[in-house]
Formats: sequence, C-alpha cells, structure tokens
Amino acid sequence: MSSPPRRDDSAPTGRAPVTLMKLAEMRALGEPIVMVTAYDHPSALAVEAAGVDMVLVGDSAANNVLGYPDTVPVTVDELLMLSAAVRRGLKTPLLVGDLPFGSYEASDAQAIGTAHRFVKEAGCDAVKLEGGGASADRARAIVRAGVPVMGHVGLTPQTATALGGYRAQGRTAERARDVLDDALALQRAGCFAIVFEAIPADVTDVIMQHMDVPVIGIGAGASTDGQVLVLHDLLGIHQGRKPKFVKEYGAIGQAMIAGVAAYADEVRTRTFPGTQHSYGIAPEELERLKAAVSGHGSLAW
Ligand code: KIV
Repeated sequence: MSSPPRRDDSAPTGRAPVTLMKLAEMRALGEPIVMVTAYDHPSALAVEAAGVDMVLVGDSAANNVLGYPDTVPVTVDELLMLSAAVRRGLKTPLLVGDLPFGSYEASDAQAIGTAHRFVKEAGCDAVKLEGGGASADRARAIVRAGVPVMGHVGLTPQTATALGGYRAQGRTAERARDVLDDALALQRAGCFAIVFEAIPADVTDVIMQHMDVPVIGIGAGASTDGQVLVLHDLLGIHQGRKPKFVKEYGAIGQAMIAGVAAYADEVRTRTFPGTQHSYGIAPEELERLKAAVSGHGSLAW
C-alpha cells in the first residue's frame, strides 16, 4: 500500500464548465483565454484548481513526460491513456486532445476514426491537429463527424523538419501570407479556435484582423485572444534551454531534486522514518508476542 484508493470527493468548483460558446463569448468580450497543457491526473487537478479555461493534452507529452526526443514518435494509444487521466482530474476547463503525427493525415476516414477515439475513449471535448492545406480538409471532415477541432499554424512541431527546424515562422511577407492562408483555411473548415505558434508579433497583429474564431498564441505576441504554455515549461520542471517564448513561473524541477535528495539523506542517516511515520501496537499485545517468540507464551502460531 503506498496511498489509499482515490475517490472524487473534491468540492464543486463553483464555475460552469467552459464550452465552445463560452470561448467565443470571451473572445467577443476581450476576456483573455488561458490554456495550458497537462499530461496526468495530478497536473489536471492543479490546473483545475488554478482556474484555467482550456487544457491541452499536447503531443508535447512525447518529450515532456515520455522521454522521446520530439513529438513525432508518440502514439494515439499513449496520448489516449494520458488524456483519460487528465479527464478524470478536470471538471471545468475544455479538454482538447492532440492528434499525433501519422494519426490523421492519410484520409478523412483515418482522421475521423482517431478523433472519435479521443472523444469516446478519453472523454476529450475537442481535438487539435497541425497545419493548413490538407489538414484543413481533415479538420472539416472531423467537424462534420461531430467533433470540435482546434487548428494549429506557424511552427508546427510535427513537421518541423520540413519547416527548417524549430524556428519562428512567417518572417518574410510571403511566409507570413502562407500562415494567414493556413489560418483562414482552418477557420473556413469550421475550427472553433486556432493556435498560432512562434510567429512575429507584428504578423500576428495583421492576421488577427482576419480572424473570427478565438486565436490562442504561443510565441505569437500579445494580440491573440488567449495564450497557451506547456506546463513543464512554465513551472520550470525541466532544466536546460527553453524556447524564447517561455516564461518560467516556478522552479519545480529544482524543488523535485532538492526534495528527493533530502529524503535520500535522511534514509542514509537513519533520521527517516521517525516515530510519527511508524505504526504502533498495544503494549500488552507486544508482550504476548515477545513471550511467544521466546518460547514462554501461550500464543498459537
Ligand atoms: O503539443 C503541444 O504542447 C502544443 C502546444 C504547444 C500548443 O501543441
């Protein structure tokens, strides 16, 4: 036994669940939309308690929790397991599942099948896919099949190699036009919202004038309708180089190392466990046990 079985006895949040209509309303009212990634149940409880509006089980789980070098190898089954765990921890935010590389590009049928798995098996409210062009066709098909879709333009990590690496997109007039075209195609396809990743802020300002759906930025400046960050980046869980657009609001990685090191030290110096961490037995029971073990008692074994 490491911890007691869990049941959902958390207090009601007092907030109504976030719907697509609510997001559109927030955009119309100019209320910033807060989105963050989560990949497991404890993180879901934390982001729920923090009051975010949308949670993405991103394919960035690949490098943030599964140890892959990038997002390409992560599978549908892996993301479904993580999404289901997040679902069990959320009451309020809209839950978006990321369709991983290779799970939606081949055909509309493949895209619809994968999207339905995210809804039926993991309880996601919506799915996200990357890119314009053919991805806009896939988005349209999924929307028609009854699943809300979030688009993603600019730096699209699943196809980063084709984009010349992990770098800002839309830095020439022609490439900025490509980003605009992708965003418009996704909007026409019926996406309820679109992520803009790693785009110059001035380009975002121009594109925003053409957008009718909520736009969530990550490294795209301040004029979008909301912002998204990867939980592990914003909490400082990983050490090492971060993209320019990351701001760290915590140093959890350091705190984790310090906590485990303190535990290791106390085990090695025998200062843990203390009596307050140990179970007791009634003195008379202990006496009976000792007598029995030494051969003088009447305890039947
Ligand atoms: O997978 C992810 O974390 C994402 C966000 C960066 C939007 O796609």
